[in-house]
Amino acid sequence: MIKVLFVCLGNICRSPMAEAVLRDKINKQGLEQQITVDSAGTGDWHIGHPPHEGTRKMLDTHVISYEGMAARQVLSEDFSAFDYIICMDESNLTNLRKLEGGIEAVIIQFMDLLPEETLREVPDPYFTGNFEEVYELMDAGCDVLLSKIVKEKL
Ligand code: 4NP
Repeated sequence: MIKVLFVCLGNICRSPMAEAVLRDKINKQGLEQQITVDSAGTGDWHIGHPPHEGTRKMLDTHVISYEGMAARQVLSEDFSAFDYIICMDESNLTNLRKLEGGIEAVIIQFMDLLPEETLREVPDPYFTGNFEEVYELMDAGCDVLLSKIVKEKL
C-alpha cells in the first residue's frame, strides 16, 4: 500500500481539500487497494474539527466526499508511516523539518507538481477566502501526483 499525507497549517482548508480530491481520483481509477490518503496540520488549533465550510462547499459542488474527515496534527511517526508527504507552502516545510525523527518519506511542495504555474505556494484560503482557486490547484496537482505515484510505485 502506498501512503500519501498532505500537510498544511490548520488541516481544515487546503490539506483536507487535497485529501478528498486525491481520494476521489483514486476511487475513480479503482486504485483504492493500492493507494491511501490522509492529511494533517502542523498546528494544533483545529484538532478534531471537520473541514472548513469553504472547503466543504467546493467539495459539495464537485460531488466529492469528505465524510468522517477530522483534523489532526502531524506526528514525527508520519515520516516513516507515509511514502509521500506533500506540503502546501514554505512554512509547512520549515515546520515539518523541525519535527524529530529520521526522514524516510519523500517530501514534495505541492506547487512543484505544477511547474507551469507562477504561484510557488498554495495560497491559504483561510486568509484569502478564495477556496475556488485552491480547488483548481488541487484538482490539477492531484492528477499529476497520481500519475507520478502510478509511474514510480505501481
Ligand atoms: P489551512 O488554513 O492551513 O489551509 O488549513 C488555515 C486554517 C486555520 C488557521 C490557519 C490556516 N488558523 O490560524 O487557525
